[in-house]
Amino acid sequence: MLTDQDRIFTNLYGMHDRTLSSACARGHWDGTARIIANGRDWIIDEMKKSGLRGRGGAGFPTGLKWSFMPKESDGRPHYLVINADESEPGTCKDREIMRHDPHTLIEGALIAGFAMGAHASYIYIRGEFIREREALQVAIDEAYDAGLLGRNAAGSGWDFDLYLHHGAGAYICGEETALLESLEGKKGMPRMKPPFPAMAGLYGCPTTVNNVESIAVVPTVLRRGGDWFASFGRPNNAGTKLFAISGHVNTPCVVEESMSIGLRELLDRHCGGVRGGWDNLKAVIPGGSSVPLLPADVCDEAIMDFDWLREQQSGLGTAAVIVMDQSTDVIKAIWRLAKFYKHESCGQCTPCREGTGWMMRVMERLVKGEAEIEEIDMLFDVSKQVEGHTICALGDAAAWPIQGLIRHFRDEIEDRIKATKAGRVSAVAAE
Ligand code: NAI
Ligand code: SF4
Repeated sequence: MLTDQDRIFTNLYGMHDRTLSSACARGHWDGTARIIANGRDWIIDEMKKSGLRGRGGAGFPTGLKWSFMPKESDGRPHYLVINADESEPGTCKDREIMRHDPHTLIEGALIAGFAMGAHASYIYIRGEFIREREALQVAIDEAYDAGLLGRNAAGSGWDFDLYLHHGAGAYICGEETALLESLEGKKGMPRMKPPFPAMAGLYGCPTTVNNVESIAVVPTVLRRGGDWFASFGRPNNAGTKLFAISGHVNTPCVVEESMSIGLRELLDRHCGGVRGGWDNLKAVIPGGSSVPLLPADVCDEAIMDFDWLREQQSGLGTAAVIVMDQSTDVIKAIWRLAKFYKHESCGQCTPCREGTGWMMRVMERLVKGEAEIEEIDMLFDVSKQVEGHTICALGDAAAWPIQGLIRHFRDEIEDRIKATKAGRVSAVAAE
């Protein structure tokens, strides 16, 4: 359980003063040049020691990712790109950081940029985040005026520029290589990997793409030490973490907690519990729309970290916790996600382009109870043909929620089909 002293994003809790002077009063930009003076290897080692795993959803070890950047220059510039295209349904944690704590992100960008030999960094921000980009731009301007960015940034001897780039509303541009394409002015379509961005990223140059939260925790991790951060959570699941909790809880919120906190404790402590009480719970999506849901009986003992949730064939993803009580039509909820993924598919590869449409249409008939029972297995099979057979993770993201639904709520799907055939219920109209 996290105490207030352990929270990195203290400005999320009522202070809401995002000015540079307030950030400095809370300890940000304190000794930044000293941290940088420790050198690139020290920073990367400390990040590895912290156990930080990428907070964008995939959980790839951050220190390890930084170490992939070439040590020697071959004449190509190095880039740090910060992924602020937060679009995963249910996810609004990075938005809070940019709104309330922009200087934590900017300081993190300077330190991370130095560690990977980058003199320039781009923050690619979701187009709909208008207030957040205004707040960020004000903070970036403040930092330039105070000498914290630009030539000899923060007195570190390192020149560092930070640019804000607006997205234009496409979910797929949050995928790191589609984001790079978009940043280069092209249509946002994912690239084949490898090569990974550290080898050939922005304009073909060595690039690291990190999520907002991953970069924003860096200054505190380095000030307090990698061991301090690693002391939270279970082994391999270290640190503090922002959870965005929505749906059928009494008080939805974004909260910073220790990794590996129990789901029930998280909801009871910060959200006033499930609407109508814990027994009224039906299911939870624990990590944003891309991960399979958990039924209520599994939620009882759920531990909110990468490894525990993966063992349950789900995932921590973006740690966007979507709570559904007994009033939820869970088939319809997953159909709605299927519709989203179909809409957002870039259409570049066949299993995703065709599969997302196919899955959405079968899901629509399941919602109405108009399908045949055999189609449930057929839908599962098709989702398996999509999973792992596409250029980017959107194909998996479209398949997994459907697989979770069938795994845990097959009875409900079958009951609806049988009842509709028997004329016992009127068909539920899909919107
Ligand atoms: P990924 O596992 O392919 O990659 C994660 C990161 O690790 C990338 O930066 C990648 O370059 C790096 N990486 C992986 N293997 C590597 C290797 N062998 N060598 C060097 N670098 C390597 O996952 P991806 O596609 O980047 O992200 C998928 C996740 O994104 C999903 O699980 C979902 O939860 C999340 N997501 C988040 C959204 C948001 O709004 N924050 C939106 C949509 C999805
Ligand atoms: Fe585009 Fe879908 Fe293929 Fe990703 S998986 S590249 S979104 S068609």
